[in-house]
Amino acid sequence: MAEQRASENTVLTEDPNEVTTCPLRPVAAVNDAEPFLREADAAMNFGGIRSSTVMDVGCGTGNSSYALAAIFPNINHVIGVDIEEWCLAIARQNCPPKSGNCDIFQFIKGNIETGEGLFQFRGIRHIISIHCFSCLKRQKKAFEMVHTLLCPGGGAAFLFAVQMDYYNLLGDLLDHPKWGQYMKDKEDIIPESHEKQYDENYYRKLLTEIGFEIHTCKTEETFSSYPNAGNLQKWVLASLPFRQSLPSSLLSRVPRRATNVAQEACSRK
Ligand SMILES: C[S@@+](CC[C@H](N)C(=O)[O-])C[C@H]1O[C@@H](n2cnc3c(N)ncnc32)[C@H](O)[C@@H]1O
Repeated sequence: MAEQRASENTVLTEDPNEVTTCPLRPVAAVNDAEPFLREADAAMNFGGIRSSTVMDVGCGTGNSSYALAAIFPNINHVIGVDIEEWCLAIARQNCPPKSGNCDIFQFIKGNIETGEGLFQFRGIRHIISIHCFSCLKRQKKAFEMVHTLLCPGGGAAFLFAVQMDYYNLLGDLLDHPKWGQYMKDKEDIIPESHEKQYDENYYRKLLTEIGFEIHTCKTEETFSSYPNAGNLQKWVLASLPFRQSLPSSLLSRVPRRATNVAQEACSRK
């Protein structure tokens, strides 16, 4: 198992065109999927087995499921699971040519916190999850569900951000009196792992208590680059979970706050 701690470097200025190498990492980035999957495979060996089936929990629009099959051509069945039907609809239409046989993919609606839609797969041998667990409010329940679904001797690998400077920005906005009235509860937006600064020791203990035997459990610091501050600001605006409910007068202040939080993050490095 591996978790990921995301954070950032470098300095941004108010000039939206200034070139920079840094900040705030996209939640759905899959560019770290390949090294993670290779490391997971070294422990679980799903890629080397002919006819293996792998479940991808929180598959989103299918990027992680397709990446999995492209990296390990021996896999002959990928079950992508997501709670959002709209993501699954895109995933079903998205099969890229490099993934080989599109018939091996099955995209299923399911909830890893409650098990809804998933009990039919009880006894599965391999489960992976890429950047989904950071979105979960009830992580412990979800880990327990993965344990329930696995067959004896089966394995799971999880990659997710435990802390992100992006969440500092959201927390900063949520704490502001003018913003609070337009937003949902903070706990719905900021993951517990970020708020409580969980590290690998927390997850090692939690997973051992659930009944997992830990192969690897580690946090790593990673950095993302944006071509310029304007690009970063656009990403932050697009990904704000409550943007529809904010009046434009408040929304227009987000880019500057995003830049400031990024600068604070960079100056800590
Ligand atoms: C950041 S996306 C990651 C998508 C994909 N794994 C990737 O790497 O591109 C996280 C996904 O987890 C899904 N998700 C959130 N809560 C879930 C739950 N309880 N059960 C299943 N999927 C969930 C979201 O709908 C979202 O599509």
